[in-house]
Amino acid sequence: MTRIHINASEPYDVIIESGAIGRIIDYIQPLKTKCQVIIVTDDNVAAHYLSAVKDQFEKAGYTVFDYVFPHGEASKNAAQLIDLIEYMAAQSLTRKDLLVALGGGVVGDMAGFAAATYLRGIDYVQIPTTLLSAVDSSVGGKTAVNLKAGKNLWGAFKQPILVLCDPDTLNTLPDTEWINGCGEIIKYGFLDVPDLLTHLENKPLLDHRHNVGQIIARCVQAKADIVEQDERESGVRALLNFGHTFGHGIEIASNFEIHHGYAVAIGMMLMAQGAVKENGLNPTVVDALKALLEAHQLPTSTSITKDALLAAAKHDKKSQGATITIVVPTSYGSSQLKTVTHEELANYLV
Ligand SMILES: NC(=O)c1ccc[n+]([C@@H]2O[C@H](COP(=O)([O-])OP(=O)(O)OC[C@H]3O[C@@H](n4cnc5c(N)ncnc54)[C@H](O)[C@@H]3O)[C@@H](O)[C@H]2O)c1
Ligand SMILES: [Zn+2]
Repeated sequence: MTRIHINASEPYDVIIESGAIGRIIDYIQPLKTKCQVIIVTDDNVAAHYLSAVKDQFEKAGYTVFDYVFPHGEASKNAAQLIDLIEYMAAQSLTRKDLLVALGGGVVGDMAGFAAATYLRGIDYVQIPTTLLSAVDSSVGGKTAVNLKAGKNLWGAFKQPILVLCDPDTLNTLPDTEWINGCGEIIKYGFLDVPDLLTHLENKPLLDHRHNVGQIIARCVQAKADIVEQDERESGVRALLNFGHTFGHGIEIASNFEIHHGYAVAIGMMLMAQGAVKENGLNPTVVDALKALLEAHQLPTSTSITKDALLAAAKHDKKSQGATITIVVPTSYGSSQLKTVTHEELANYLV
């Protein structure tokens, strides 16, 4: 078992433990005595894990409700959120009750936002069941739903009281979702975690999946180190966006056909190539990154045009008028923030 303490404004622990999903109550009871619990999940995750989770709460004397919605990014919208909030209100959940987000980032983001705002905020627990949510979205307290105008535009910061990650739940995850998570994992290597990159070179995660708990712990620690310094993203937290400036453009231009982790992989490659040209980054870094991405079956280039990528960057919420802050690799295992004009950003696209 690995316990990582997140020293946020409201501190909490991330538990990473094989089999933890079968021992939920051991972790919940010290934080929350008998109350009403709403488990929020999607239909895919429900089919695998809902009844087991629900049974444990019921046996321990909690009153349990569940809310299951259709899987997929399209569900992370305002109408679905309001439906969930109305359901919570209809069950008369109080401020003393608990929400459990059981699933990937879609569940975590929407359920977290419901917990942030229902009765001005109730406690919630994240149980991430995708690799991406385990290493990224379940930690850090960002919650949101999408609006018609763009992704994650309506949200709030709300720290969970606990993150409970059971790597065994990833056994039912399709390969594409493993690969998706690997995109974000490789990103962490560039946030001053070069040992993660070396580890993944020697033992690519897709071929050594039993190591996943250890890898998740390394990534969560890396995210914790950054989030603790800058919970609300006014500075260094932006480092977590390595690969995301062009990555978001790729997601948008492909109509979200190219999934997040895959888009981030291409975005990291483009930014590294740009850094060779603009900042004198050693080209061997690009070669090493490319090999590592390929070892994890991730793409390293795109046919999406430079104009489309730049247009998306311009409209990105990270863009501040004429300038945008980008994350530029400085070596194999480190990066720095740079604020550039949109014209300068164009020079990065080789
Ligand atoms: N809040 C943050 O800081 C943050 C960070 C990164 C990403 N995100 C958000 O996360 C979302 C993406 O998350 P995701 O990649 O986890 O997607 P997801 O939640 O859609 O899950 C991917 C698919 O896997 C299925 N699934 C989940 N767990 C499973 C399991 N154990 N076995 C079988 N199938 C399973 C889901 O039903 C879904 O079909 C995006 O909306 C993104 O904006 C948020
Ligand atoms: Zn991401």
